[in-house]
Amino acid sequence: MAALRISSLEERHLTEVVTIENAAQTCPWSEQSFRNELAQDHGIFIVGELGQELIGFAGQWIMIDEAHIITVAIKDSYRRQGHAETLINELLLRAKDQGATCATLEVRAGNAPAIALYEKLGFQTTGKRKNYYPDNKEDALIMWLYDLKSWTPPKS
Ligand SMILES: CC(C)(COP(=O)(O)OP(=O)(O)OC[C@H]1O[C@@H](n2cnc3c(N)ncnc32)[C@H](O)[C@@H]1OP(=O)(O)O)[C@@H](O)C(=O)NCCC(=O)NCCS
Repeated sequence: MAALRISSLEERHLTEVVTIENAAQTCPWSEQSFRNELAQDHGIFIVGELGQELIGFAGQWIMIDEAHIITVAIKDSYRRQGHAETLINELLLRAKDQGATCATLEVRAGNAPAIALYEKLGFQTTGKRKNYYPDNKEDALIMWLYDLKSWTPPKS
């Protein structure tokens, strides 16, 4: 299988990113939200391509020494092939390079695939925000990877 080619999010990727976002999320980000990220310097947003096809993306914000994973989505037909894991591994390695010592995220309590992905990468659930998501009042789980300094990507 061809390796995922990872690069930084650019303006030219936005249409494909928003198409994946709309299909993957119940409260999708708008194109403008992604465009705003291009103008920020605290964010790292990356895309993954196979050949000419953009098949997924992921993003994080670096807040002093914390990496906040903001989003990850993979095109439906390319799921369960390790691509999200590859993208999040890349984000965490870049966060380490920038001096982050820990990583955190929020995830819908009912999003079993995402929770399993983050647990595989070493995140633990440490708390819950009740009724966090405005569309359906779903709870958010708060997950942390406390020791990013000595973290290495899991061997699949
Ligand atoms: C969550 C999501 C990004 C996973 O992408 P993916 O490319 O299919 O995930 P990977 O193939 O890299 O899976 C890596 C690990 O995550 C876990 N995992 C991923 N999908 C899973 C599923 N459907 N069921 C159970 N475990 C799953 C497994 O531990 C897997 O490792 P394994 O293959 O060795 O078992 C994808 O389902 C998606 O785009 N969902 C919609 C958007 C979303 O919910 N994003 C997260 C919140 S912002």
